[in-house]
Amino acid sequence: MSDTSKRSQSFFNEDGVSGLTHRAFTAAMGYDSADMSRPLIGIGNTWSELNPCNSHLRQISEAVKRGVLQAGGFPLEFPTISLGEIHLSPTSMLCRNLAAMDTEEMIRGNPLDGVVLLTNCDKTTPAALMGAASADIPTIMLSGGPMLNGHYQGEILGACTDCRRYTAEYQAGAISAETYREVEANLVRSAGHCMVMGTASTMNSLMEALGMALPGNGAIPAADSRRLRLATAAGRQIVQLVARDIRPSQILTAEAFDNAITLLHALGGSTNAIVHLPAIAGRAGVDLPLSRFDELSRRSPLIANMRPTGQYQMEDLFYAGGIPAVLKQLLPLLHSDALTVTGRTLAENVAKAQVSNPDVIRSLDDPLQSEGGLSILRGNLAPDGAVIKHAAATPALCNHRGPALVFKDVADLKARIHDPALDVTPDHVLVLQNSGPIGGPGMPEVGNLPIPQKLLRQGIRDMVRISDARMSGASYGTIVLHVAPESALGGPLALVEDGDEIELNVAERRLQLRVSDGELAERRAAWTPPPPAFSRGYGQLYLRHVNQAPLGVDFDFLRGRDAVTSMEQPKF
Ligand code: FES
Repeated sequence: MSDTSKRSQSFFNEDGVSGLTHRAFTAAMGYDSADMSRPLIGIGNTWSELNPCNSHLRQISEAVKRGVLQAGGFPLEFPTISLGEIHLSPTSMLCRNLAAMDTEEMIRGNPLDGVVLLTNCDKTTPAALMGAASADIPTIMLSGGPMLNGHYQGEILGACTDCRRYTAEYQAGAISAETYREVEANLVRSAGHCMVMGTASTMNSLMEALGMALPGNGAIPAADSRRLRLATAAGRQIVQLVARDIRPSQILTAEAFDNAITLLHALGGSTNAIVHLPAIAGRAGVDLPLSRFDELSRRSPLIANMRPTGQYQMEDLFYAGGIPAVLKQLLPLLHSDALTVTGRTLAENVAKAQVSNPDVIRSLDDPLQSEGGLSILRGNLAPDGAVIKHAAATPALCNHRGPALVFKDVADLKARIHDPALDVTPDHVLVLQNSGPIGGPGMPEVGNLPIPQKLLRQGIRDMVRISDARMSGASYGTIVLHVAPESALGGPLALVEDGDEIELNVAERRLQLRVSDGELAERRAAWTPPPPAFSRGYGQLYLRHVNQAPLGVDFDFLRGRDAVTSMEQPKF
């Protein structure tokens, strides 16, 4: 029996009143000593009706329980905070670390020998893995899967790339109100997370490359019965992981993060991964500077033809072979001997995978682009780095100089962006300040600033946009994000003024504010920080301890691992 499986046995077999209460209260749920003698597997469930992407996870949980029982384990389900992109304000990212703390402390405080963590919507996956990496008991990540494709008049619809695209067309006067409503009615056909290669698709796919999820986790649709069979398999496998005491610390190595970043580039995945992976790495004790994303981008071709950069969606990717088939193509670029939760290597996991549609999953010899779709920019406007998804950008704008048009925060942006009197041309660079981890607060997904309506009506659909915010992984355009240090801390972004010339050169990875050092020093001396967004509660804890984007926007006191080795002191 492993160290971790001793947790439940020491809990149930403790002498005196402690053991009595542990057994008696567990028996109150209908269990007996035959159950309590088995490895105790927690199923951390982010089910919530306030999170539609996770609203089917009760059924997934039942399938996991079936597998745990088949393998001789004792499954007990527990709730964790569920963060939904749609309903939660001001941004789900504000609460990602809170959810990670919830998961970690539930693992640490309860007599669990292993966990299967059920996630789906954008933040639920990184939050759960951050907590599990710190607690470090045997863990399998299991997502609920993507939605089926939307269909409208012969066109495939994708959430939420088409939410934005059709809104822009409606605002431009190019489609009617009736068409706009029809798109809304036909967009979301099933349970699941957004089905383009947005943040949820990206993070749930990367779980396979990290080695923390079973093959199939990334792309099996939520509505496909194979998702339930995957859940049952995860239930069986976690009991084996407990028996072998295979923990996240053995899987989440520097090599595993290289594998995940290579897959990220190959998929044209979400920029949000460049926040979440450093946060997870920070928990795992792996040094993951932004420069590693750029180094791997240079040698990782884009081979998955996925929206918003390409043509297809997750359902199509699944039929084409899924993430195992993508990983098999990438094997020459991967650490193929990395350990995974199957107990086997990454190469062994994907040995039988096949590409059934080479237009969806290209080979290394025939990539969509020879390099990855994401790059890290630096310059006097972003001394600690910034991110651009150039695969989803307009090529002509990737080498651009133009005058800044500055919005001091989101409220200012909303008030003025569609004003017919706004002095703006297609050459302008739209700059949004005070939208980073502290300024946002919570680094909201507002970096894809809307194109001013007066330009939309002239046919303009893209401009260079720069902020310290994030953007939805389903967004597209020439959008520079995650500028660090952020403007609310007095980073150079705070010093930009209307009319300043800004240079973006993606090929040379440069983001430059063409204002003299002397002038910037004068502006810095006159700069004052914005008032804090919170004066009490979780928000104040967040403001005091949140790190900047290159460190994953995690809390300073949560970095690192504090592995569970035995049960905490019992209460009785
Ligand atoms: Fe949940 Fe898009 S809203 S993944």
